[in-house]
Amino acid sequence: MIITIDGPAGSGKSTISREVAKRLGMRYLDTGAMYRAITLLALEAGLVPDRITESGELAAKTVLRLEGRPDDLSRVFVDGREVTDEIRGSLVSKNVSAVSAEPSVREVLTTRQREEAAKGNMVLEGRDMGTVVCPHADLKIYLTASIEERAQRRQAQLRERGVSLPVEQLAQDIATRDSYDSGRELAPLRKAPGAVEVDTSGLTIEEVIQRVTDLAHPERGLGGFVRGPLDTPPYRFAYSFLPALFKLAFRMEISGVEHLPTRGGVVLASNHLSNLDPFFLGCACPRQIHFMAKAELWRSKLLGRLVSAFGAFPIHRGEPDRQAVKSALEIVKGGAVLGIFPEGHRQQGGRLGEIHPGVTLFSLRDDVVTIPVVLSDTDRVVRKGLLRFPRVHVLFGAPLEIPGTDVPRSERAQITADRLATAYSDLMGETKRAQPQTKAKNGRA
Ligand code: DC
Repeated sequence: MIITIDGPAGSGKSTISREVAKRLGMRYLDTGAMYRAITLLALEAGLVPDRITESGELAAKTVLRLEGRPDDLSRVFVDGREVTDEIRGSLVSKNVSAVSAEPSVREVLTTRQREEAAKGNMVLEGRDMGTVVCPHADLKIYLTASIEERAQRRQAQLRERGVSLPVEQLAQDIATRDSYDSGRELAPLRKAPGAVEVDTSGLTIEEVIQRVTDLAHPERGLGGFVRGPLDTPPYRFAYSFLPALFKLAFRMEISGVEHLPTRGGVVLASNHLSNLDPFFLGCACPRQIHFMAKAELWRSKLLGRLVSAFGAFPIHRGEPDRQAVKSALEIVKGGAVLGIFPEGHRQQGGRLGEIHPGVTLFSLRDDVVTIPVVLSDTDRVVRKGLLRFPRVHVLFGAPLEIPGTDVPRSERAQITADRLATAYSDLMGETKRAQPQTKAKNGRA
């Protein structure tokens, strides 16, 4: 997949592009850094301002290298010399627009950027990525933000470095750069045909990242729902409006959802405080969750049918239930999300119960990812028969590390249960209602 992210200075391109690449496991190319590096060399060679046309020749014979982790090629080298910091200096910033408008420079750098993109799986950030360099990219984003907001962001950035400048002056600088980058004849900054415009004014970085990663998943439909092979229509219908309602009513806060893989078998292992927990989890999770639910719900024919229509299946607690194990296996093997409450029963007062190693049965499969989830305050929603509206927090944790098959099975189960208990404690520490009290039960799987 190739994703291009273009936009004016200060629209948040670099932060967003880097993080999107990281989350999607893609490589990242900051093409502005390439133009900056050539500008530095042109300045050093005395080509600016009168002999800028000779900069293309200079670019052609320069070995330009971007290094770092694959998703963060942030160190820049020219002919083996590191210039990472120098290219961010004010002299380069002042002259880069003029050098980057030079056709011979653009020709050299465009070719190099296309060569990088041809290796695939890359997020390219710049001004003409979607219009010139990769017009056939799978996803093209055009990031914008109001001049006022960009000037304020820049002011905050500078303040961190101990520099204080009036916001009006910064807004003026940005406007000048905008008109230069959009007004030049060659490869001006423009929204590419087919690009999705994302205005970042008033949005948090996380919200923008979510929007872009959502767009990168073609299987995601309305409301960010990721479609899966075992989806049931009633669940998808409920997902189209319930999350908005829950977010409003309970000021529901959701964190760590990026840990959830967008496809493949997942065990979502949550703490359990209330009968309403499946609703909160369902609203927080962009994939349909198939819950293992207590068999008592199926005592009423109507309720049983309704719950089944939402993809849940019964488990008889306190006894071996082969049918439940079979159903759960079908779900994870089918590449869907299995929702379990490893403590078995609801816990009081936000406390955590014991985790029996037996519940790790599905997590031990190597085609399954186990995500711990902690809910807080759902037990305060219904009090003395009355509906209340506490602030509810849903936290997704990083995938559990499962011991390898060289470890005996019962030991693997015990270690996994212990790790789940630790993950719960850590996640509870992050909720507003931190009362970590958990231990894994010693027992055989
Ligand atoms: O993204 P940045 O601010 O580091 O970019 C520096 C300059 O490089 C910017 O003023 C415009 C130019 N540039 C360009 O012309 N084409 C690109 N693809 C990337 C940057």
